[in-house]
Amino acid sequence: MDTLTVSQKMTQAQDFLPINGTDHIEMYVGNAKQAAHFYKTAFGFQSLAYAGPETGVRDVASYVLQQGKIRLVLTTPLSSKNPISEHVYKHGDGVKILALWVDDAYKAFEETTKRGAKVYMDPKTVTDEHGEVRMSGIYTYGETVHLFVERKNYKGLFLPGYKEWKSNYNPKDVGLLYVDHCVGNVGWGRMNSTIKWYEDVMGFVNILTFDDKQINTEYSALMSKVMSNGNGYVKFPINEPAEGKKKSQIEEYLDFYEGEGVQHIAVATHDIITTVRDLKSRGVEFLDAPPNAYYEDMTNRVGKIDEDIAPLQELGILVDCDEEGYLLQIFTKPVEDRPTLFFEIIQRKGAQSFGAGNFKALFESIEREQAKRGNL
Ligand code: FE2
Repeated sequence: MDTLTVSQKMTQAQDFLPINGTDHIEMYVGNAKQAAHFYKTAFGFQSLAYAGPETGVRDVASYVLQQGKIRLVLTTPLSSKNPISEHVYKHGDGVKILALWVDDAYKAFEETTKRGAKVYMDPKTVTDEHGEVRMSGIYTYGETVHLFVERKNYKGLFLPGYKEWKSNYNPKDVGLLYVDHCVGNVGWGRMNSTIKWYEDVMGFVNILTFDDKQINTEYSALMSKVMSNGNGYVKFPINEPAEGKKKSQIEEYLDFYEGEGVQHIAVATHDIITTVRDLKSRGVEFLDAPPNAYYEDMTNRVGKIDEDIAPLQELGILVDCDEEGYLLQIFTKPVEDRPTLFFEIIQRKGAQSFGAGNFKALFESIEREQAKRGNL
């Protein structure tokens, strides 16, 4: 039995790689112009910056969207010869870069590569009239990358090379504030080496573990371990499929993404009921609500909460707790036709980690969708 709280465990992280938070998330997509429209219309992101032929970039187009502190970059290749085309061909639309905001991108590169990280981008300094940004990058699971971004001497909108994106179409935001965590799916037998990589190369600490005895149904199972940096601003849970009578949903992801990659991005709000109502009215599709018994049993599981249960049940919002408080969560359906990347909306009320009850409820509702797709 663990005797330390999650907050106490975080203090055991190593401090050779200080991280201030998520800098941005970049997705490689088949049509960035249309994807940007979707994330504005459905999720309430705001137009921020653009790079493409009109700004002197010849081979890709990138749209930068912002909401709260969340910056989402949507990039598409402009020809089959660009290597991004291969990424999109193989994986479909998906997350390529989980960029981390650091104070020293050169030192982040040195500290991680000397501990065995595979190089994605050698350290470089890019400049424009607004100052300089220093960047470097390493590979994590699959073809996914951690970019280190140091922007203390930069006053521009996003990065050098990008221009302001002025749009006449500006739907209002839905109250999304920051990236809470990003989850990776890894292949059979790859959990331990991935966890060790985050411990050894990034100095992260394992704050929570769910095994296949906790997260299972009659048919399938998965294992999950949550990795966090020392201040808890960056959390990367990792999932691995586990043996069951039928196919694990993590295996379904691996089959359709054709490899390891980001399963979901969790974004925080201070008012999940209003945010989710808004998202639903804009056409965002969420997983089915759990059975009524989930809500009838809720007070026993999590104790007293500030919210009325009726709207939570109506919207299908899940509630769980850890030793420090509770949290409210809901999960979208995949945001592309392949059953790969989806989003989570989360509101934390004291809890720093996650609860097994919600994890299991999520797993069961994904499995119902998996069965509909004929992939169970
Ligand atoms: Fe999550």
